Amino acid sequence: MTEPVKIVTRNFGVDRAWEIDVYESRGGYEGAKKALSMEPAKVVEEMKAANLRGRGGAGFSAGVKWGFLPRDNPKPRYLVVNGDEGEPGTFKDRALMQNDPHLLVEGIISACWATGAHTAYVYIRGELKLAWQRVEGAIAQAKAKGYLGKRPFGVDFPVEIHTHRGGGAYICGEETALLNSLEGKRGEPRLKPPFPAVVGAFGCPTVVNNVETIMNVPWIVLFGGEAFHALGVKGDGGTRMYGLSGRVKRPGLHELPVGTKLSTLVLEIGGGPLGNELKGVIPGGSSTPVLLPHEIDIPFTVDSLKAAGSMMGTGCAIVLDETVCAVRAASNLARFYWHESCGQCTPCREGTGWVHNILANLEAGSGKVEEVAVLLSAAKSIMGNTICPFGDGAAMPIVAFAQKFHDEFLRHATLKKCPYGGRFAA
Ligand SMILES: Cc1cc2nc3c(=O)[nH]c(=O)nc-3n(C[C@H](O)[C@H](O)[C@H](O)COP(=O)(O)O)c2cc1C
Repeated sequence: MTEPVKIVTRNFGVDRAWEIDVYESRGGYEGAKKALSMEPAKVVEEMKAANLRGRGGAGFSAGVKWGFLPRDNPKPRYLVVNGDEGEPGTFKDRALMQNDPHLLVEGIISACWATGAHTAYVYIRGELKLAWQRVEGAIAQAKAKGYLGKRPFGVDFPVEIHTHRGGGAYICGEETALLNSLEGKRGEPRLKPPFPAVVGAFGCPTVVNNVETIMNVPWIVLFGGEAFHALGVKGDGGTRMYGLSGRVKRPGLHELPVGTKLSTLVLEIGGGPLGNELKGVIPGGSSTPVLLPHEIDIPFTVDSLKAAGSMMGTGCAIVLDETVCAVRAASNLARFYWHESCGQCTPCREGTGWVHNILANLEAGSGKVEEVAVLLSAAKSIMGNTICPFGDGAAMPIVAFAQKFHDEFLRHATLKKCPYGGRFAA
């Protein structure tokens, strides 16, 4: 049997892989050197052929996004790398930045060349201190070797990378809120259009990509877009980081070919639920609607998750077993979204509070049966009515929980005690 291809985790477990000498001894920076010897348009072409779908959540093709940059705009261009990683249940970008920061730097140099950006910003969640230190260390080492700065690898194309640490607001992972935060403004999402490719950082054309997305670029440059595409499924190429957490026997992170089944990840690789029975799987971070056990025998890809009524999201799944109270799980999520709503749009600011209150009452045993319908209506009133997708991400999982575990929600309103040992008033 051939070994599965490792792209972004190929240096995981290698002693001090974050040191430039170790990284280079394993073929590091060859992708950037090759990229800088190619026509930028050819790199973009390879990216399009790769069908690399953005690893930050929305799953948009990276090559197509790069192609949106206007050709005739004289303003500078920027590359912004999203390492905010605030999605509950998601911990892949932290691991990637900590273990292989030079791969990120190499991806950035290649992406800057392809998109014509001379400056890149890496926005890193404030709590991810070690990840930030490692990225800073890699930037300093690459600079000392002349891979960054005025003439990377002797090519007359200056590239500078700056890191920016976030303050811990989940909304600052949303690309336009991130840009505002980067500019020193309040981290509130902007209306789109204009999209960042046209008006992004400091009013200039900007590509925003996730950390993992950018770390795939050197491999694509070295081995070609078609080879990358062939590792995954049609229209969704490569390998990707899949995560597992929650009530699962073997939580962790795995780089697997795109198209690996969600059931394989949870039941085989993860060893199945901790308890006796699987109750559900939240597939791609907390904003993605829960799937029932009979719904998980599907390829874990952007399109098949969408067809199943959920979302790929970050590819980091949260497992629920029979000991988990669906009301409590939904209430826990609702509390997070209520707390994290930036408050800019009324349906989200008010709606997340309503949803949270109703669920907190149901969870505490003081809710009424009629309130389950109010909950559904309140959550649905947020969906589609906000500037950014945060509103949908807050509401969709609650709707899914209330619909898929409807009987449990109704029973919760009539019982004196949570059957799962939840926190009912004494
Ligand atoms: C509320 C919210 C939080 C987000 N958080 C992140 C994040 O932490 N990291 C990330 O890469 N993308 C995040 N995104 C998605 C970004 O807006 C954007 O789609 C992504 O950075 C684009 O990169 P990609 O195309 O490489 O995936 C978030 C979106 C929303 C609506």
